[in-house]
Amino acid sequence: KRYTAIVLAAGSGRRMQSDTPKQFMELCGHPLVYYSLYAFEKSPVDDIILVTGKDDVSYCRKEIVEACDFRKVRAVIPGGKERYLSVYEGLKAAAGTDYVLIHDGARPMIDETEIRLSMRAVEEEHACVIGVPVKDTIKVGNAKHYAVDTPDRSCLWAVQTPQSFSYELLMEAYGEMWQAAESGERITDDAMIVERFTGHKVKLVQGKYENIKVTTPEDLLIAEVFLKKAKK
Ligand code: C5P
Repeated sequence: KRYTAIVLAAGSGRRMQSDTPKQFMELCGHPLVYYSLYAFEKSPVDDIILVTGKDDVSYCRKEIVEACDFRKVRAVIPGGKERYLSVYEGLKAAAGTDYVLIHDGARPMIDETEIRLSMRAVEEEHACVIGVPVKDTIKVGNAKHYAVDTPDRSCLWAVQTPQSFSYELLMEAYGEMWQAAESGERITDDAMIVERFTGHKVKLVQGKYENIKVTTPEDLLIAEVFLKKAKK
């Protein structure tokens, strides 16, 4: 069976308030996306597709993939305006694979343990996501910022990536999704597409709290501490 990692680095990083897209900001001597590519390069996946902004394709090819000799990177391709559109570009480039592991390039702490857990679970379940039980109480707020609901914390998970699927299942889910996406529904991850548009259940696989997504400036400080601790 063939496993392909799709590493996403085509976001604009608006919430980071920086001129450099966050996935290329330097952290402990490397651009942020390097750490995800390194983890998958060293893992048992067969190949990697890197999805990035159309203006960053040649930078990624030369300065990251070739410079670091990441041999599993089979293609560096331009993404789309929304995350799920970038994923779809990656999926088209991954045609012929059996399983895809979709990973946010902005999560530098991913390591082989979670990759192996994902590979094992996706083979059994066909759809799985790495996540952690939430530590905070979560409120549902309305447009005027009043709390309207407090879901039972014991069943809430904060999902991370990789999110892993059998290729066929995810393509089928995307096929069903286009209409809903066009009607304005906000799609923030791939598991949501499988949950909504196929009858298939997505398995939650417990990962680590360290696997943060670098999104806002303070996340850079936290990521630096974690990277140093893990000697990455
Ligand atoms: O925006 P968000 O933080 O949810 O993005 C998660 C990941 O998806 C990031 O690694 C980002 O680069 C990627 N992304 C993408 N294409 C987009 C939007 C986000 O590849 N259009």
